[in-house]
Amino acid sequence: MVVSARVEASQIGSDILAKGGNAFDAMVATEMALAVTYPFAGNLGGGGFMVYRKSNGDVGGIDYREKAPLSGHKDMYLDSLGKVIPDMSTKGATAVGVPGTIAGIFEVHEKFGSLSMEELLAPVIALAEKGVVVTENQANRFENYRESILEVNDGITSFPIGCKAGDTLKYPVLANTLRRISKEGRDGFYKGETAKILSNFIQEKGGFITEEDLAKYEAKWRQPIIFNYKDLKIISMSPPSSGGVTINQIFKMMEPYDIAEFGHNSAKTIQLFTEASRRAYADRNYFLGDPDFVEIPLDVLLSQSYLMERMENFSFDSATKSADVSHGEIEILESMETTHYSIIDAEGNAISVTTTLNGAYGSKLYCDELGFFLNNEMDDFSAKPGVPNMFGLIGADANSIAPEKRMLSSMTPTIVEKDGQLYMVVGTPGGSTIITAVAQTILNTYEFNMSMQESVNAPVFIINGYRIWSFSNPKGFRTHSKKN
Ligand code: GLY
Repeated sequence: MVVSARVEASQIGSDILAKGGNAFDAMVATEMALAVTYPFAGNLGGGGFMVYRKSNGDVGGIDYREKAPLSGHKDMYLDSLGKVIPDMSTKGATAVGVPGTIAGIFEVHEKFGSLSMEELLAPVIALAEKGVVVTENQANRFENYRESILEVNDGITSFPIGCKAGDTLKYPVLANTLRRISKEGRDGFYKGETAKILSNFIQEKGGFITEEDLAKYEAKWRQPIIFNYKDLKIISMSPPSSGGVTINQIFKMMEPYDIAEFGHNSAKTIQLFTEASRRAYADRNYFLGDPDFVEIPLDVLLSQSYLMERMENFSFDSATKSADVSHGEIEILESMETTHYSIIDAEGNAISVTTTLNGAYGSKLYCDELGFFLNNEMDDFSAKPGVPNMFGLIGADANSIAPEKRMLSSMTPTIVEKDGQLYMVVGTPGGSTIITAVAQTILNTYEFNMSMQESVNAPVFIINGYRIWSFSNPKGFRTHSKKN
């Protein structure tokens, strides 16, 4: 089974499974098919994380997160007065981090793939050539982002933003890029012609990525964060994603309470969840960053005694002020500009993948010669301690910019076991609300006995420093809400 944001991508993934490919083969094909069918977040120009659980119970994770260019530095988005320069880390070439997606799929394929890369990419290339029908949602998104895409691309783009629902869009240039990758392997992206075109393009537009940055990019295998919540075993992504650590903290702070007894989305359940999240996000924003660059005190942050201490001042009688919780307030805006897919194969191997360009269509910079959008992931760094990024997240030194460092993420691809058996594969888009949405989905299923579909459809409450929203979601997709 393959679940993704577009039926064509899920179909390509499940065809690979039907052909005898395993979950990892299907991941490669689905990831690339999303780049064709869902350019809003599916990508060649972005990055992501994958957590797996093999049928024999082995678990692992891969980090193919973007990273800062070699020329990156702490103050790169500040003006001479030390103020953050508006838009520089969010829009256009200056916002682009070194893409990781192609390195990620090759690394996964090399370790676990069973079909050849040519076989996996062939249906994706065929789809890009044959074309994809524009959905109503997609047409609306093109309409919403047309102006900003045109602005970033100096008024001219070959990306078909003028199309209507029902039109068939063909992507011959992207098909060519994919063909080169299929033939030359990861070097077909990170070296040679593609790398030259890509780095020249980004630099001509004022950005920082060089051929050397691309050649040096590597995806990294990471040990996931693994913890028990009551009789569940939860396996989630480790730093540079903040997802696993933060969800671990939230669950452990909630574990002593019987929230099934409190009731789904009851005032008590929401209050407890909010207070646990408030404390966990304060730690996230202060302590977490790329583990290759910063020392993260995981032993302490995830220890029972520390988490119990964090909840010592929790009371159902009053709310804690965010300002009184460790390192500052958080503000969260809902967004959908990321995508998640989950796969299980016939043997029971499961993978959970969240991938992104960061914002909608990333930096909005579209490379006509290669046929894809570039990310604006540099905004996930803390441009200046205390100044919020586009998701309202406030960072600290642990997430400051340094050459080749990965920016902290909220993406939370997660797998859950119960009684030693696979129980759930879960993840979501949603920017900084990803972590709490994944936590609520697990709780809905486990504590409140909902089916997976009911659990996704159920109203979600969103927490920021001041308010809680609850909204229902009949289609099972996260909806967009504004902070006001
Ligand atoms: N770009 C969204 C995230 O990584 O958290």
